[in-house]
Amino acid sequence: MDVVVLVSGRGSNLRAICSAIDVGTCAAHVVGVVSDRKKAAALEFADARGIPTRVVSLRKGDDRDAWNESLAADVAELKPDLIVLAGFMRVLGSPLLERFPGRIINVHPALLPSFPGHSGPQDALDGGVRISGCTVHIVDAGVDTGPILAQAAVPVLADDTADTLHARIQAHEHRLLPIVIHQIAIGAITLDPLTVSTAVADPSQSLSVPDA
Ligand code: GRF
Repeated sequence: MDVVVLVSGRGSNLRAICSAIDVGTCAAHVVGVVSDRKKAAALEFADARGIPTRVVSLRKGDDRDAWNESLAADVAELKPDLIVLAGFMRVLGSPLLERFPGRIINVHPALLPSFPGHSGPQDALDGGVRISGCTVHIVDAGVDTGPILAQAAVPVLADDTADTLHARIQAHEHRLLPIVIHQIAIGAITLDPLTVSTAVADPSQSLSVPDA
């Protein structure tokens, strides 16, 4: 299964996907990495690995519709079977969503539908919850609103900051996201947004997977 990964920053999830591919636990091939930021560290990693990269920047004042069209065109050129948003900090417009209906997934650092948006870990702390985690879901036109495919839970500790909580959540993202990609690749998860089947029915399974 050919995957295009969309990134904006560090790219630790991209690394986790590639590590899982390397050790044979994720039956996918990353055919491209697309970023909205030229300086994203994820691009350096992709370049070093020989993965084709594209940058589709969006600056203040730029035409958002034109950006959505370019993004869709660049991603489509890479001919992905699946698009993975791994730290991509933009809401997708209709050009990409319509070209790849139900074939775009995202990883989010909170247990959706709680705490969508840019600051999931901080919002979980502010909300006083004792458990948070990560969610992998199908992307629709909303902000972190699409059908949920899989989740993993982590405790929120009394002395947590947004950074320490996010780090604990990310360790689980790095396990869960490659598992979900693999399950899509082998047909264990169906991506039709109307009839989503979640193969990770027992969340404890995702928690017991060893580190990538
Ligand atoms: C992750 O925590 C992901 O859930 C969120 O953005 C972060 C990206 O981290 N959407 P990285 O760039 O993969 O390190």
